[in-house]
Amino acid sequence: MTKRHFNKAWVVGGSTGIGRALALELARHGVDVVVSARGAESLAAVLRDGVDLPGKLHAVPIDVTDRTATQRAAGEAAALLGRIDLCVSCAGTHLPLGAKNFDAEKFRRLVDVNLMGTVHVLESVMADFIERRSGHIAVVSSVAGYRGLPSSTGYGATKAALINMCESLKFDLDRAGVKLQLIDPGFVATPLTARNNFPMPFLMEADAAARQFYRGLLSDRFEVTFPKRFTWQLKLLRCLPYAAYFPIVRRMTRALS
Ligand SMILES: NC(=O)c1ccc[n+]([C@@H]2O[C@H](COP(=O)([O-])OP(=O)(O)OC[C@H]3O[C@@H](n4cnc5c(N)ncnc54)[C@H](OP(=O)(O)O)[C@@H]3O)[C@@H](O)[C@H]2O)c1
Repeated sequence: MTKRHFNKAWVVGGSTGIGRALALELARHGVDVVVSARGAESLAAVLRDGVDLPGKLHAVPIDVTDRTATQRAAGEAAALLGRIDLCVSCAGTHLPLGAKNFDAEKFRRLVDVNLMGTVHVLESVMADFIERRSGHIAVVSSVAGYRGLPSSTGYGATKAALINMCESLKFDLDRAGVKLQLIDPGFVATPLTARNNFPMPFLMEADAAARQFYRGLLSDRFEVTFPKRFTWQLKLLRCLPYAAYFPIVRRMTRALS
Protein backbone atom coordinates (compact mmCIF):
# COMPACT_ATOMS: atom_id res chain seq x y z
CA MET A 1 0.00 0.00 0.00
CA THR A 2 1.41 3.42 -0.95
CA LYS A 3 0.60 6.88 0.43
CA ARG A 4 -2.45 8.41 -1.25
CA HIS A 5 -1.34 10.82 -3.93
CA PHE A 6 -4.77 11.98 -5.12
CA ASN A 7 -7.19 14.44 -3.56
CA LYS A 8 -9.16 15.48 -6.63
CA ALA A 9 -10.89 12.88 -8.78
CA TRP A 10 -12.97 12.81 -11.96
CA VAL A 11 -15.16 9.71 -12.08
CA VAL A 12 -16.68 9.20 -15.51
CA GLY A 13 -19.64 6.81 -15.40
CA GLY A 14 -20.10 7.83 -11.78
CA SER A 15 -23.89 8.16 -11.65
CA THR A 16 -24.88 4.55 -10.93
CA GLY A 17 -23.39 1.18 -10.04
CA ILE A 18 -19.65 0.78 -9.47
CA GLY A 19 -18.75 4.36 -10.46
CA ARG A 20 -21.35 5.87 -8.13
CA ALA A 21 -20.22 3.69 -5.22
CA LEU A 22 -16.58 4.57 -5.91
CA ALA A 23 -17.32 8.32 -6.09
CA LEU A 24 -19.01 8.14 -2.68
CA GLU A 25 -16.18 5.99 -1.27
CA LEU A 26 -13.63 8.56 -2.48
CA ALA A 27 -15.65 11.40 -0.92
CA ARG A 28 -15.90 9.38 2.31
CA HIS A 29 -12.09 9.46 2.36
CA GLY A 30 -12.02 13.23 1.84
CA VAL A 31 -11.37 13.25 -1.91
CA ASP A 32 -13.18 15.97 -3.89
CA VAL A 33 -14.94 14.34 -6.83
CA VAL A 34 -16.55 15.40 -10.09
CA VAL A 35 -18.99 12.74 -11.24
CA SER A 36 -19.91 12.54 -14.91
CA ALA A 37 -22.47 10.55 -16.90
CA ARG A 38 -25.41 11.35 -19.18
CA GLY A 39 -28.31 11.25 -16.70
CA ALA A 40 -28.72 14.59 -14.87
CA GLU A 41 -31.20 13.06 -12.39
CA SER A 42 -28.91 10.23 -11.29
CA LEU A 43 -25.96 12.65 -11.06
CA ALA A 44 -28.02 14.92 -8.80
CA ALA A 45 -28.91 11.90 -6.65
CA VAL A 46 -25.19 11.09 -6.14
CA LEU A 47 -24.60 14.67 -4.98
CA ARG A 48 -27.54 14.40 -2.55
CA ASP A 49 -26.30 11.03 -1.21
CA GLY A 50 -22.83 12.46 -0.61
CA VAL A 51 -23.78 15.86 0.77
CA ASP A 52 -22.53 15.10 4.31
CA LEU A 53 -19.28 13.40 3.28
CA PRO A 54 -15.89 15.05 3.89
CA GLY A 55 -15.03 15.22 0.17
CA LYS A 56 -17.00 17.68 -1.96
CA LEU A 57 -19.01 16.26 -4.88
CA HIS A 58 -19.77 18.07 -8.14
CA ALA A 59 -21.51 16.93 -11.32
CA VAL A 60 -20.62 17.55 -14.96
CA PRO A 61 -22.95 15.81 -17.44
CA ILE A 62 -21.22 14.08 -20.33
CA ASP A 63 -21.82 11.63 -23.16
CA VAL A 64 -18.46 9.93 -23.67
CA THR A 65 -19.29 9.03 -27.27
CA ASP A 66 -18.92 12.75 -28.07
CA ARG A 67 -15.20 13.54 -28.29
CA THR A 68 -15.53 17.34 -28.17
CA ALA A 69 -18.00 17.25 -25.28
CA THR A 70 -15.67 14.94 -23.35
CA GLN A 71 -12.77 17.36 -23.78
CA ARG A 72 -15.01 20.22 -22.64
CA ALA A 73 -16.17 18.22 -19.61
CA ALA A 74 -12.57 17.43 -18.62
CA GLY A 75 -11.88 21.18 -18.66
CA GLU A 76 -14.94 21.86 -16.51
CA ALA A 77 -13.97 19.12 -14.07
CA ALA A 78 -10.43 20.52 -13.79
CA ALA A 79 -11.81 24.03 -13.23
CA LEU A 80 -14.16 22.83 -10.47
CA LEU A 81 -11.44 20.81 -8.74
CA GLY A 82 -8.45 23.07 -9.36
CA ARG A 83 -6.76 20.09 -11.06
CA ILE A 84 -7.52 16.42 -11.68
CA ASP A 85 -5.22 14.01 -9.80
CA LEU A 86 -7.19 10.85 -10.53
CA CYS A 87 -9.28 10.09 -13.60
CA VAL A 88 -11.50 7.00 -13.42
CA SER A 89 -12.97 5.87 -16.73
CA CYS A 90 -15.91 3.70 -15.72
CA ALA A 91 -18.65 4.50 -18.26
CA GLY A 92 -19.83 1.38 -19.98
CA THR A 93 -22.76 -0.58 -21.24
CA HIS A 94 -23.58 -4.19 -21.95
CA LEU A 95 -25.66 -5.83 -24.66
CA PRO A 96 -25.61 -9.62 -24.94
CA LEU A 97 -24.59 -10.55 -28.47
CA GLY A 98 -24.03 -14.08 -29.72
CA ALA A 99 -24.05 -15.66 -33.17
CA LYS A 100 -27.85 -15.81 -33.41
CA ASN A 101 -28.46 -12.11 -32.64
CA PHE A 102 -25.19 -10.80 -34.09
CA ASP A 103 -25.93 -7.20 -35.04
CA ALA A 104 -23.50 -4.56 -36.29
CA GLU A 105 -25.44 -1.62 -34.84
CA LYS A 106 -25.43 -3.09 -31.33
CA PHE A 107 -21.78 -4.02 -31.72
CA ARG A 108 -20.98 -0.46 -32.80
CA ARG A 109 -22.83 0.92 -29.76
CA LEU A 110 -20.65 -1.20 -27.45
CA VAL A 111 -17.51 -0.05 -29.25
CA ASP A 112 -18.63 3.61 -29.15
CA VAL A 113 -19.36 3.64 -25.42
CA ASN A 114 -16.98 1.10 -23.88
CA LEU A 115 -13.95 1.51 -26.12
CA MET A 116 -14.11 4.89 -27.88
CA GLY A 117 -15.73 6.49 -24.82
CA THR A 118 -12.71 5.44 -22.77
CA VAL A 119 -10.37 6.64 -25.52
CA HIS A 120 -12.09 10.06 -25.44
CA VAL A 121 -11.77 10.26 -21.64
CA LEU A 122 -8.08 9.29 -21.69
CA GLU A 123 -7.34 11.72 -24.50
CA SER A 124 -8.96 14.53 -22.52
CA VAL A 125 -6.59 14.18 -19.52
CA MET A 126 -3.47 12.35 -20.69
CA ALA A 127 -1.50 15.20 -22.33
CA ASP A 128 -1.89 17.36 -19.21
CA PHE A 129 -0.85 14.49 -16.92
CA ILE A 130 2.23 13.81 -19.07
CA GLU A 131 3.18 17.48 -19.08
CA ARG A 132 2.79 17.64 -15.27
CA ARG A 133 4.61 14.29 -14.85
CA SER A 134 1.89 13.31 -12.38
CA GLY A 135 -1.66 12.02 -12.34
CA HIS A 136 -3.36 8.68 -12.07
CA ILE A 137 -5.67 7.00 -14.57
CA ALA A 138 -7.88 4.00 -13.74
CA VAL A 139 -9.61 2.25 -16.63
CA VAL A 140 -12.51 -0.06 -15.81
CA SER A 141 -12.47 -3.07 -18.11
CA SER A 142 -13.75 -6.51 -17.05
CA VAL A 143 -12.68 -10.11 -16.56
CA ALA A 144 -14.98 -10.66 -19.57
CA GLY A 145 -12.10 -9.24 -21.61
CA TYR A 146 -9.70 -12.05 -20.69
CA ARG A 147 -11.05 -14.54 -23.23
CA GLY A 148 -14.13 -15.17 -25.35
CA LEU A 149 -17.28 -16.04 -23.37
CA PRO A 150 -20.74 -17.02 -24.66
CA SER A 151 -23.07 -14.10 -25.61
CA SER A 152 -20.20 -11.68 -25.14
CA THR A 153 -18.96 -11.13 -28.70
CA GLY A 154 -19.30 -7.34 -28.52
CA TYR A 155 -18.89 -6.58 -24.81
CA GLY A 156 -15.95 -8.97 -24.43
CA ALA A 157 -14.26 -7.57 -27.53
CA THR A 158 -14.44 -4.00 -26.18
CA LYS A 159 -13.12 -5.06 -22.78
CA ALA A 160 -10.29 -7.12 -24.33
CA ALA A 161 -9.37 -4.06 -26.38
CA LEU A 162 -9.24 -1.92 -23.23
CA ILE A 163 -6.95 -4.42 -21.51
CA ASN A 164 -4.60 -4.48 -24.48
CA MET A 165 -4.70 -0.68 -24.81
CA CYS A 166 -3.78 -0.24 -21.13
CA GLU A 167 -0.96 -2.79 -21.33
CA SER A 168 0.40 -0.86 -24.28
CA LEU A 169 -0.02 2.60 -22.70
CA LYS A 170 1.68 1.50 -19.49
CA PHE A 171 5.12 1.50 -21.12
CA ASP A 172 4.91 5.19 -22.06
CA LEU A 173 2.99 6.35 -18.99
CA ASP A 174 5.48 4.71 -16.63
CA ARG A 175 8.26 6.68 -18.31
CA ALA A 176 6.12 9.85 -18.14
CA GLY A 177 5.52 9.55 -14.40
CA VAL A 178 1.78 8.89 -14.82
CA LYS A 179 0.20 5.99 -12.92
CA LEU A 180 -2.12 3.75 -14.95
CA GLN A 181 -4.26 0.98 -13.49
CA LEU A 182 -6.59 -1.51 -15.06
CA ILE A 183 -9.68 -2.43 -13.03
CA ASP A 184 -11.16 -5.82 -13.93
CA PRO A 185 -14.25 -6.58 -11.83
CA GLY A 186 -16.13 -9.86 -11.75
CA PHE A 187 -19.91 -9.71 -11.19
CA VAL A 188 -21.12 -6.66 -9.24
CA ALA A 189 -24.81 -5.95 -8.53
CA THR A 190 -25.59 -2.81 -10.57
CA PRO A 191 -28.24 -1.68 -13.08
CA LEU A 192 -26.00 -3.21 -15.78
CA THR A 193 -26.01 -6.73 -14.30
CA ALA A 194 -29.66 -6.46 -13.16
CA ARG A 195 -30.48 -7.24 -16.80
CA ASN A 196 -28.72 -10.63 -16.64
CA ASN A 197 -31.13 -13.56 -16.55
CA PHE A 198 -28.63 -16.13 -15.26
CA PRO A 199 -27.17 -16.74 -11.79
CA MET A 200 -23.97 -14.72 -11.42
CA PRO A 201 -21.25 -16.50 -9.43
CA PHE A 202 -19.73 -14.54 -6.52
CA LEU A 203 -21.95 -11.52 -7.23
CA MET A 204 -20.83 -8.70 -4.94
CA GLU A 205 -22.54 -5.50 -3.81
CA ALA A 206 -21.40 -2.23 -5.40
CA ASP A 207 -20.33 -0.74 -2.05
CA ALA A 208 -18.08 -3.74 -1.32
CA ALA A 209 -16.67 -3.49 -4.84
CA ALA A 210 -15.99 0.23 -4.30
CA ARG A 211 -14.06 -0.46 -1.10
CA GLN A 212 -11.83 -2.93 -2.95
CA PHE A 213 -11.54 -0.51 -5.88
CA TYR A 214 -10.40 2.26 -3.49
CA ARG A 215 -7.86 -0.02 -1.79
CA GLY A 216 -6.60 -1.06 -5.23
CA LEU A 217 -6.06 2.60 -6.19
CA LEU A 218 -3.73 2.92 -3.21
CA SER A 219 -1.71 -0.10 -4.30
CA ASP A 220 1.10 -0.36 -6.82
CA ARG A 221 -0.64 -3.17 -8.70
CA PHE A 222 -1.24 -2.57 -12.39
CA GLU A 223 -4.37 -4.70 -12.36
CA VAL A 224 -7.03 -4.54 -9.64
CA THR A 225 -9.63 -7.34 -9.62
CA PHE A 226 -12.48 -8.32 -7.32
CA PRO A 227 -13.93 -10.55 -6.00
CA LYS A 228 -10.68 -12.51 -5.92
CA ARG A 229 -12.36 -15.90 -5.44
CA PHE A 230 -13.95 -15.51 -8.87
CA THR A 231 -11.26 -13.60 -10.75
CA TRP A 232 -8.46 -16.06 -9.97
CA GLN A 233 -10.55 -18.81 -11.57
CA LEU A 234 -10.84 -16.72 -14.73
CA LYS A 235 -7.12 -15.98 -14.62
CA LEU A 236 -6.46 -19.71 -14.56
CA LEU A 237 -8.87 -20.29 -17.46
CA ARG A 238 -7.02 -17.59 -19.40
CA CYS A 239 -3.87 -19.73 -19.36
CA LEU A 240 -5.49 -22.89 -20.73
CA PRO A 241 -4.96 -24.12 -24.29
CA TYR A 242 -8.08 -23.92 -26.50
CA ALA A 243 -8.53 -27.71 -26.36
CA ALA A 244 -9.19 -27.43 -22.62
CA TYR A 245 -10.68 -23.91 -22.50
CA PHE A 246 -13.73 -24.46 -24.75
CA PRO A 247 -15.08 -27.67 -23.12
CA ILE A 248 -14.59 -26.29 -19.59
CA VAL A 249 -16.32 -22.96 -20.29
CA ARG A 250 -19.08 -24.75 -22.22
CA ARG A 251 -19.71 -26.94 -19.17
CA MET A 252 -19.54 -24.02 -16.72
CA THR A 253 -21.89 -21.76 -18.64
CA ARG A 254 -24.36 -24.58 -19.42
CA ALA A 255 -24.80 -24.99 -15.67
CA LEU A 256 -25.46 -21.24 -15.37
CA SER A 257 -28.08 -20.90 -18.10
N1 LIG B 1 -21.37 -4.77 -12.86
C1 LIG B 1 -20.48 -5.68 -13.21
O1 LIG B 1 -20.61 -6.87 -12.86
C2 LIG B 1 -19.28 -5.29 -14.01
C3 LIG B 1 -18.27 -6.27 -14.17
C4 LIG B 1 -17.14 -5.93 -14.90
C5 LIG B 1 -17.02 -4.67 -15.43
N2 LIG B 1 -18.01 -3.75 -15.27
C6 LIG B 1 -17.81 -2.44 -15.86
O2 LIG B 1 -17.95 -1.46 -14.87
C7 LIG B 1 -18.38 -0.23 -15.46
C8 LIG B 1 -19.57 0.29 -14.68
O3 LIG B 1 -20.63 -0.64 -14.85
P1 LIG B 1 -21.79 -0.83 -13.81
O4 LIG B 1 -22.00 -2.27 -13.66
O5 LIG B 1 -21.57 0.01 -12.62
O6 LIG B 1 -23.01 -0.32 -14.70
P2 LIG B 1 -24.01 0.90 -14.58
O7 LIG B 1 -24.59 0.98 -13.21
O8 LIG B 1 -24.93 0.76 -15.74
O9 LIG B 1 -23.07 2.19 -14.76
C9 LIG B 1 -22.65 2.63 -16.00
C10 LIG B 1 -22.28 4.09 -15.86
O10 LIG B 1 -21.80 4.55 -17.12
C11 LIG B 1 -22.59 5.69 -17.52
N3 LIG B 1 -22.68 5.72 -18.97
C12 LIG B 1 -23.21 4.79 -19.82
N4 LIG B 1 -23.15 5.21 -21.08
C13 LIG B 1 -22.55 6.45 -21.04
C14 LIG B 1 -22.21 7.41 -22.02
N5 LIG B 1 -22.47 7.21 -23.33
N6 LIG B 1 -21.61 8.54 -21.62
C15 LIG B 1 -21.34 8.76 -20.32
N7 LIG B 1 -21.65 7.91 -19.34
C16 LIG B 1 -22.25 6.76 -19.70
C17 LIG B 1 -23.94 5.46 -16.84
O11 LIG B 1 -24.71 6.65 -16.69
P3 LIG B 1 -25.73 7.19 -17.82
O12 LIG B 1 -26.42 5.99 -18.37
O13 LIG B 1 -26.62 8.15 -17.09
O14 LIG B 1 -24.90 7.87 -18.84
C18 LIG B 1 -23.45 4.98 -15.48
O15 LIG B 1 -23.01 6.06 -14.70
C19 LIG B 1 -18.67 -0.56 -16.92
O16 LIG B 1 -17.57 -0.17 -17.71
C20 LIG B 1 -18.83 -2.06 -16.92
O17 LIG B 1 -18.52 -2.63 -18.17
C21 LIG B 1 -19.14 -4.03 -14.58
